[in-house]
Amino acid sequence: MQISWPQRRPLTPTLKTKMNHIDFSEDRIRLADLTIRQVTKADLPGLEWEGEYWKFRAMFADLYRSNLLGRTLLWVIAAPGGELIGQAFVMLKSGERDAANGKDRAYVFAFRVKSAWQNRGIGSYLMQFVEDDLRQRGFRYVTLNVAKDNLAALRLYKRLGYQVTGSRPGIWSYRDPDGVVHHVNEPAWRMLKNLEGDG
Ligand SMILES: CC(C)(COP(=O)(O)OP(=O)(O)OC[C@H]1O[C@@H](n2cnc3c(N)ncnc32)[C@H](O)[C@@H]1OP(=O)(O)O)[C@@H](O)C(=O)NCCC(=O)NCCS
Repeated sequence: MQISWPQRRPLTPTLKTKMNHIDFSEDRIRLADLTIRQVTKADLPGLEWEGEYWKFRAMFADLYRSNLLGRTLLWVIAAPGGELIGQAFVMLKSGERDAANGKDRAYVFAFRVKSAWQNRGIGSYLMQFVEDDLRQRGFRYVTLNVAKDNLAALRLYKRLGYQVTGSRPGIWSYRDPDGVVHHVNEPAWRMLKNLEGDG
């Protein structure tokens, strides 16, 4: 399959991408017009968001392989024109059983909505979808980590019914497509939601 990768560095928005947004920013977005589906191989370049997440190319490829093995769910949300405007990934089973144990506890990560589309209910809509899907798969608990300085996301998660259950050092690293290793040090809260009695 021919894959067309985005630019390797973040770009300022082009006229084309601005035009894509103007079509909808004038109107109230209708959540029902958005499509939530799992990532396909052809979506991998789109996950880089015009270069913003170029640095995670290898990680996206690994996650895609883990998706094919049934270990992760990679949800994306697309605008009517097909542009990927948000995503939420789910680890069903992990070595850290407190996060995801493959039976009743799953871990949500890489939850993000493109900035031009934020604050219109899209993130909440996607999270509701993810939780409903996990409930149908027999999961009872959803866990996630949120950086301690990400107060907006923390507020959103609390509003969605998540509670802080602990603290994590948030130390990890990744290798960008140039082979440079980046070390992340992002202390985080661990949050938990009990899906029973909700929805
Ligand atoms: C966190 C994130 C995914 C939320 O996505 P979103 O689409 O903006 O989420 P929502 O629109 O559902 O909710 C955001 C706020 O907008 C409000 N909102 C929802 N619909 C709205 C509407 N139609 N008009 C105005 N405000 C609205 C919500 O009440 C919410 O307010 P709150 O923060 O006080 O709870 C997004 O901000 C993001 O990608 N941030 C950067 C990445 C990130 O931090 N991810 C989380 C990592 S743990």
